[in-house]
Amino acid sequence: MTGRTWSLWNREFDSPVILASGTAGFGFELMDMGYLDGVAAVISKATTLRPRKGNPPPRIVETRFGLLNSVGLANPGVEEVVTRILPEASALPVPLIVNVAGETEQEFASVVEMLEKSPVPFGYEINVSCPNVSEGGVAFGASPSTVERVSRLVGQTSSRPFSVKLTPNEGSITESALAAQEGGAGAVTVCNTFLGMTVDWRTGMIPLERKVGGYSSPALLPLTVARVHITCQAVDIPVLASGGVSRPEDVLELLAAGASMVQVGTWLMRRPGSGAELRDGVLELLEDVSP
Ligand code: SIN
Repeated sequence: MTGRTWSLWNREFDSPVILASGTAGFGFELMDMGYLDGVAAVISKATTLRPRKGNPPPRIVETRFGLLNSVGLANPGVEEVVTRILPEASALPVPLIVNVAGETEQEFASVVEMLEKSPVPFGYEINVSCPNVSEGGVAFGASPSTVERVSRLVGQTSSRPFSVKLTPNEGSITESALAAQEGGAGAVTVCNTFLGMTVDWRTGMIPLERKVGGYSSPALLPLTVARVHITCQAVDIPVLASGGVSRPEDVLELLAAGASMVQVGTWLMRRPGSGAELRDGVLELLEDVSP
């Protein structure tokens, strides 16, 4: 170990790598599978006020260079999360950040109010950017005034820090980031997936029921680097990078662009041990460049 640390919300971590929402459940389900090795924290699948069945299958489609997802925020609802899931997640060896979504501005605060009953969450990630739902989602994240109001409502309800997960798909990411900061967010996540679609040119068939889904891929890295860079120029709060990470070099590039911590998501499906591989790779590369 090099003694290097990264910090978020007054806590020091020996890794800059966080598992992205939607790719690792609530973390504890994967505890014995190597997913958590080398990671600083886990971000849960989105939690909403009421249970959601999500979108009809298929929800994931593999494309030549990445994945399209259209899960539709499937989750058992916050009551179940607080009473059944979070007690199990208390066994996690790393902090859990709970991703929160809502159909109305008030719903975000109502979900957080329920989550506050649990001692488990380290913080929250406020998801105003899901590309796969009709209510809330991207439309919220694209409007700076909505982002500010949601952040303020959450801040008034929460005793814990929170990051607002922004959309790359509509509006200005820097204006939304500034609005989150103004509303009291303790970080912004840059960013959610990019809208994408695939169509079978022979049959005209589009596999996803909503036609478009959220695209994630190592190829997105330069798009994320650009957004992290411009967001870091605009705000004073930490920026959590998310999108395109598959190599230790990618983590270092996003940190160099200004990110405080870096999320890995889609790459976990290919390499469940990504957390340790990325963290160890980062430490080795930093050793190599140290004088
Ligand atoms: C989904 O549940 O459809 C994905 C969540 C997200 O991208 O925010």
